[in-house]
Amino acid sequence: MRLLVTGGAGFIGSHYVRSLLDGGYGAAPDTRVTVFDKLTYAGNRDNLPAAHDRLDFVRGDLCDGDLLRELLPGHDAIVHFAAESHVDRSVAGGGDFVRTNALGTQVLLEAALHSGVERVVHVSTDEVYGSIDEGAWTEEWPLLPNSPYAASKASSDLIARSYWRTHGLDVSITRCSNNYGPYQHPEKLIPRFVTNLLEGRKVPVYGDGRNRREWLHVDDHCRAIHLVLAKGGAGEIYNVGSGNELENLQLTERVLELCGADASMIEYVEDRKGHDLRYSLDDTKIRERLGYAPQVPFDRGIAETVAWYQDNPMWWKAAKHRADTEQAAGAV
Ligand code: NAD
Ligand code: DAU
Repeated sequence: MRLLVTGGAGFIGSHYVRSLLDGGYGAAPDTRVTVFDKLTYAGNRDNLPAAHDRLDFVRGDLCDGDLLRELLPGHDAIVHFAAESHVDRSVAGGGDFVRTNALGTQVLLEAALHSGVERVVHVSTDEVYGSIDEGAWTEEWPLLPNSPYAASKASSDLIARSYWRTHGLDVSITRCSNNYGPYQHPEKLIPRFVTNLLEGRKVPVYGDGRNRREWLHVDDHCRAIHLVLAKGGAGEIYNVGSGNELENLQLTERVLELCGADASMIEYVEDRKGHDLRYSLDDTKIRERLGYAPQVPFDRGIAETVAWYQDNPMWWKAAKHRADTEQAAGAV
């Protein structure tokens, strides 16, 4: 199988590619991967092996249809991770989000249609549903995204479905909860807090810290994506969750504990605009129909993740200081 992975230099995409090349998720040993990535601030070529006989790397923009039409023939399937992914950045300015997530997805799917690609997995997010005070979303829930990020992801999710319904392209969609693990950009909650503490700085908790998220290890998300690639139905949507729901303050306490710090290192800061209170997925469908079950217990996953940032300062320092400078300049 020859697979094109968009966004394969980012957090989740690179985990997926490294695992596949190592024979993970039951991938055939002859699986070849082309990573297609623009290498924005969030992408890092060093997240992937420097050289590998089954890996090709192409730097390019999702919105470049000519390049995609040249590149795609010969690929059997696409796993589409590439996106602008950070909610705070979308609050500061939504333009790149609409361009990459909505338009870029349409350009990619159009190129796939004309290049004989047989199968596409579109990686969406639970944020397309909005915020839920109690209970959990099933795949039939209406989409009510709140941030420009979530709205642009909802657009791409609907565009993906439309290419199945209109053109018969074999597209499946995954909607996953919050991921954590190694190689996540230090702009996101867990790596931001861990790396702040490693630098002796406080951790900025937005608002009162009562917002709730459902945390899943990146390896379990990637396992689910590969399962959907192999066994998912055309036009089908699959929620991917963990059931591991935590208040931000509970998670913060765990991170503080693992870093040997205490609550005096918490700094309550101004809330995120339009901050979603709670996300919760009902992922019965993927569990019952495809046999998905998360395998990484949170206690182990979070301890290993904190240790990874402690052991790899060279990986996060440059990105962190770039993000801090942008934030100080009000760009984020
Ligand atoms: P990330 O920001 O770490 O990586 C995104 C990658 O996409 C980067 O390598 C970047 O260079 C690339 N990219 C951005 N714009 C591009 C463009 N125009 N053309 C080509 N490449 C481009 O994101 P992530 O956290 O790894 O998320 C990957 C996907 O998973 C996204 O679609 C996101 O919406 C979805 N998702 C993320 C989470 C999470 O918790 N991180 C949860 C559910 C779903
Ligand atoms: O739910 C899936 C989504 O999870 C993905 O689609 C997004 O790509 C991903 O970024 C993530 O979005 P969140 O907004 O939930 O993640 P983030 O790490 O930015 O924030 C998690 C929670 O922590 C949220 O309630 C905001 C809060 N927060 C975040 C940061 C960065 C803080 O309190 N302080 C912070 O510094």
